[in-house]
Formats: sequence, C-alpha cells, structure tokens
Amino acid sequence: MKLIYEGHACFRIQSEGKEIIIDPYISGNPLAGKKAAEFKPDLILLTHGHGDHLGDALTMARSNHATLAAQVDLLNALDLQGIDNVAFNLGGSFDFAPFKITMVPAWHGSTVSSAAGPLYGGVACGYIIDDGQKKVYHAGDTSLFGDMGMVISRYGIDCALLPIGGFYTMGPEDAVTAADWLKADIVIPMHYNTFPVIKQDPQQFKQAVEAQTTAQCVVLSTGDELDL
Ligand code: NI
Ligand code: MN
Repeated sequence: MKLIYEGHACFRIQSEGKEIIIDPYISGNPLAGKKAAEFKPDLILLTHGHGDHLGDALTMARSNHATLAAQVDLLNALDLQGIDNVAFNLGGSFDFAPFKITMVPAWHGSTVSSAAGPLYGGVACGYIIDDGQKKVYHAGDTSLFGDMGMVISRYGIDCALLPIGGFYTMGPEDAVTAADWLKADIVIPMHYNTFPVIKQDPQQFKQAVEAQTTAQCVVLSTGDELDL
C-alpha cells in the first residue's frame, strides 16, 4: 500500500493498481501541489460536507467515472447525477477490491454550503481502509473521543492520519493522546497550516508522539509518498 499526501486532509492510497482519494480539496487549497484535473482516482471517500473536504469530489467523480462513497445523508445533499455512489453509514463496510472500507465515527459537523443556504449533510465520519495487508485510519475532522481507544483501536490500525490543527478539530496535545489510544505503528499529522487559524509545528508534534507513545510519527509535505 502506498500513501501520498496532497495537503490539508487529502490523501491518496494506492494498492494493486487501484487508487482511492480521500477529501479531495484541491482547487483553492493553498497547500495543493497539482490541479484537480490531474488526479485519476477509482474511488473517492468523503469524511463530511465542509468545503475543505468535499472540494473537487463531484467534478473528479464525473471526469474519471470514479465511485463516490460517503455517509448516506451527505450523499442525499449532493447532486449525484451520473455518479456511481456508495451511500453507507457508521459501522458499515463495503468492498472495493483490493480494499475494504469501513466507516467509523468522528465528532464534527457536516453541513454542505449551497446557494440556497446550508444543507443537512448527516454526521461526519472517519474511515478504516484495509487492502488486506495494511490498515490505515483517516480520522476526518474530529475532536479526541474515547471510542478511538474503545472501538477504533480494535481494528488493528497500522497507520493513523490525525488532524492536529486545533480550532476546527483537536490540536496537537489531544492528537498525541489519540495516537496513544489508537496503538498505531505510524502516525501522520494532517489538517494544519492550511489557514492561519490552524497553524501548528508538525516537528514539535512528532517529538511529542515519539516521546509519549510507542508510535513513529512521519511528517509529510504535499506530494510526499510513504510505502506501508
Ligand atoms: Ni470540517
Ligand atoms: Mn476541515
């Protein structure tokens, strides 16, 4: 499994010739390294409906005939004409060979902005992405919550992608606790430094994770790849 960071909360995950993109916020993302049209995903996953996650998902799905998967209420708020979609919900899984995708909780909102005002987008979520070899947990936007230790750690996470920006999500101190509870081998920080209000020092986070937990912390810049 290969992981590629695309800035903010956007990651690509490749295995056996298939590619997933999570939260493809490329257009308007100050940290993006490419144009949205350059991406060729097979599957697009959304953690919630906010603009810095929904991003280019609909145009990317149409132009690549990619499948779009998200929480059912979020998909109900979107114009899905011409898009193959998987409308599932918390605790549920589906197979997208070689991957198994499981939706897990996150503590956050999920409205979708529209010209008519905010649309109800259900509940925010995270994902566990399993290619049969490794399991990656993308936490989405979330605060720290106890079920990271009680429920999500039970999946046997190899690599956890955790927001550290604060303000909209948990900050670095709570993310260190999340890393401890999740018992992942590798922790990767995300959702920081995109905007002034979520400015953080990822190297300081790395030091804290490696001092206080058994995890290794890998700091990625846009375009960086990690083989798991
Ligand atoms: Ni959000
Ligand atoms: Mn966000």
